[in-house]
Amino acid sequence: MADLDDLREGANFGLGVASQKQGFHVKGADHLMWGMKDRLSRIFSPKTGRTVMLAFDHGFIMGPTSGVERIDLNILPLVEYADCLMCSRGILQTSIPPTFNKPICLRSDAGTTILTELNDNVLIDIEDAIRMNVSAMALMLSIGDPVNEAKTIANLYKAADLGSKYGIPIMGVTAVGKDMARDARYFGLASRVCAENGANIVKTYYCDGFEKVVAACPVPIVIAGGKKLPELEALELCYNAINDGAAGVDMGRNVFQSESPVAMIQAVHGVVHDGLTPAQGFEMFKDLAK
Ligand code: R5P
Repeated sequence: MADLDDLREGANFGLGVASQKQGFHVKGADHLMWGMKDRLSRIFSPKTGRTVMLAFDHGFIMGPTSGVERIDLNILPLVEYADCLMCSRGILQTSIPPTFNKPICLRSDAGTTILTELNDNVLIDIEDAIRMNVSAMALMLSIGDPVNEAKTIANLYKAADLGSKYGIPIMGVTAVGKDMARDARYFGLASRVCAENGANIVKTYYCDGFEKVVAACPVPIVIAGGKKLPELEALELCYNAINDGAAGVDMGRNVFQSESPVAMIQAVHGVVHDGLTPAQGFEMFKDLAK
């Protein structure tokens, strides 16, 4: 039987004080369930509403390209500065110690490699994602690709069904085919299609007119970094994206291929979360890189 000794009657009911309403800091997520919100809050800082995701899933289609040859040497020193880690399950299980306890955005589709054209795209079993306690699942969409568009949208749709069943947010990653224009019209369409099919987060590229892409997308957008740029330019890219409404970055090469990746990720963090200008971020980078 429960211990009833000194069971005191409640007396502090705050009568006359309206019950507190709690807003939620992630765009489009107000009506989601608790588990989804908990996971989204691990990715997007409740203080700033933003995130610095570190993407190092490149090897799953490209093999050991520059900067991800050795996850233990190249990536682990960066982990403490990232808000979220984006990688494949193979790298997660073999190379990321669970003791880091960082939220994971799991690359959850698989297809072909850079040696061939994309000709198939499959989704991993959500039970595997649950076992790995991931905070989001990421899938690529080939919007505008006549062969793979339908297949990749169907994957997203299926992932969104499963994600909503188990409380796992889904990130749609807009791949850009060789023939696609990298403009606001294309990225606006691709991002909106992701959200309409159930993505809770969209990853896309920065472009002129990006504020329209963000405005028309009902869920948060994070930008990919793309090819390696000089550090100041990469920080300008982050700054402009945030200024135009991005909720953060999911950056890979511009961090791990930097001459000082540890300095670069901290400078990116300063721009994304602390309102540093690109020039201030670059000063920070230079100081930390010394
Ligand atoms: C995209 O599908 C890849 O998965 C990368 O995660 C993405 O391109 C971000 O990396 P980066 O900043 O190097 O472009």
